[in-house]
Parts: sequence; structure tokens; C-alpha cells
Amino acid sequence: MSASTNMAGIGQRAADGACWSVGECMLELRPQADGSIVHAAAGDSFNTAVYLKRLAPALPVRYVSALGDDTMSGLIRKHMQAESIDDSLVDTLPGGTPGLYAIETDAAGERRFVYWRSQSAARTMLSAAHLAQLQAALDGCRILLLTGITLAILDDERRAALLALAARLREAGAWVVLDNNYRAALWDAATARHWMDRAAQVCTHALFSFDDEVALHGTRSPAEALARMEAFGMREAVLKLGAGGCLVGGAAGRAVHVPALETRAVDTTAAGDSFSAGYLARRLSGADSVQAAQFGCTLAAAVVAHRGAIIPMEAMP
Ligand SMILES: Nc1ncnc2c1ncn2[C@@H]1O[C@H](COP(=O)(O)OP(=O)(O)O)[C@@H](O)[C@H]1O
Ligand SMILES: [Mg+2]
Repeated sequence: MSASTNMAGIGQRAADGACWSVGECMLELRPQADGSIVHAAAGDSFNTAVYLKRLAPALPVRYVSALGDDTMSGLIRKHMQAESIDDSLVDTLPGGTPGLYAIETDAAGERRFVYWRSQSAARTMLSAAHLAQLQAALDGCRILLLTGITLAILDDERRAALLALAARLREAGAWVVLDNNYRAALWDAATARHWMDRAAQVCTHALFSFDDEVALHGTRSPAEALARMEAFGMREAVLKLGAGGCLVGGAAGRAVHVPALETRAVDTTAAGDSFSAGYLARRLSGADSVQAAQFGCTLAAAVVAHRGAIIPMEAMP
């Protein structure tokens, strides 16, 4: 069977293939009052992978990245396995170490994040050998998840290789999902604009956050941001508006506003990541874009009402 026949009808047959999420998963460190440290695994592309797997257990979800061969990398793999995320496409860099971040809370209760990620093994993913492994497995990929953070941590050669892979998948009928997640600390704005526009040309589904579009392009309104997205010609465009919910793109400029749920937000980490997972899970099971966005808002509301990127399984809507 050719790749294109094999991948036809992806929306209906997603359970036959896998979702691949590409990016950096870090070890999250949470210092406790008694001096101990609790750890977890997190990172935008990993958070979306976890929530999607929880919502669509029959869908194989594979993480694509690189880790070291140290104890901390081993802990991250254990966190992946605990969430039933397949880590067999996570490359191992001998002598490498993973990215870490700590959540610190100051005397006023204000949280801040401290990162150790500039030398992380994830930056070395997509070596020639790793790309060959991915190419050999490509036929089984029905959904590819990419984010602005993923592109930010790679060099130009790897960025181009990743987008070439995405283009092949799109050609074969797979979904290529892009979350803008612009982080100014990771790359300069001109470089980010260049690569995000190239990625937007390749994606089939853009799930962007308005705040990030403002930071990257100085966009003045959600309507302007959505129009900019839709000009790339992707099939589906959704603009996340924080507590304002989201804007779902539609034919002939007819966007639909979906309000957020009323909730007491205690930590907005992974709001957008979980929204995307909720949206995709519903689209895969046949809901339309507006229904899918409503569920994205429902999941994100539960996530912002809890501390940490990944909420307990019992708290899932
Ligand atoms: N304070 C909030 N109350 C309820 N829902 C929220 C709140 N903040 C975010 N959300 C939900 O999370 C989604 C994504 O949030 P947003 O901040 O736009 O993304 P990101 O986290 O990527 O910046 C929103 O569309 C909304 O549904
Ligand atoms: Mg985001």
C-alpha cells in the first residue's frame, strides 16, 4: 500500500496510526517546605502529548526528542512511561544531560521558573541516525505536533530537517499541528518570525496563542492575528485568548468566539498545551471545530485550577 493510500481518511482512522510530539521534555523540580524536592516531567510538547493520551487512550502517542544516559534522563523516561507515552523515538546522547527547571515560590507567594536547558540533550535530536530512525517509522505517523519552543531549541539544519519531515507527512495526508508558543528568551524575534512563518506554511492545524502573536508580530487584535494565520492556507486555525476563551477560524472570515469557562485560576501553566490536546482529541473523534474548541476550554479550565503542568488523573474532565 502506498503511503498516501495508507494515510487516507486520517480523521476517521486516527486510531490506526500514532501521534508524534516533537520537543523537549524537562525534569520539573519543586522544592518542598521540608527541604526535599518533588520531581515531575513537563514541557509544552510533552504536556500536550500527556493530555492527548489521557483523552484518547487508543491512540499511540510517541515522543520525539533526545535525552542523555544519566539518572535524570532515566527519571524523565519513567515519567513518560507512567503516562503511557512511547519513548522509543527519544534518541539517547551518550554523556548528555536533560533540561531541568525549578518552580520557586518567593516570600510573597509569587512563583518564578529557573531553567537549566541551554546545554540539554534535546538540542541534539534529529542527528542523521535519529532522522533515519524517524523516516523508517514515518508511515505510522498520523499526527505530528510541533511548537515554537521545539523550533527555538534547534539549529537551522535541524529546523529545516524537521519541517521537511512535516511537509512529507502533510503530503501523505497526516495532520501537522503547530502551536506558536513564542519564548523570547530562547531565540531572537527575527529568527523566530522567519521559522514560525515557514512552519505555518507546512502545518494543517494552527493552534496559536494571541499573547504570543502580539509578542512576535505586534499584532493589534485577535481578528488581525487570525487573518494572519489563515493567510498561510492551513485547514484549521484556532486562536487562544487566555481567560477570553478562543476564536475558531471559519470559511470566508466567519470566526466563532468560544468563551472560557469560569474558574478560579491558580496556575496557568499548560493552559494552551492542554487546550490543544482537548481540541485534537475531539476533532479525532468526529466533533466539529467549535465543539472541539469548547472541550479544549473545558480541559484548560481544569488545568488552570490546579498547580503544575500536569493535573492529577482524577481531575480530568
Ligand atoms: N483564567 C482562565 N480561566 C479559564 N480558562 C482559561 C484561563 N486562562 C486560560 N484559559 C483557557 O486556556 C486556553 C489557553 O490559554 P492561553 O493563555 O490563551 O494559552 P497559552 O497558555 O498557550 O498562553 C484558553 O483558550 C482558555 O480556554
Ligand atoms: Mg502556549
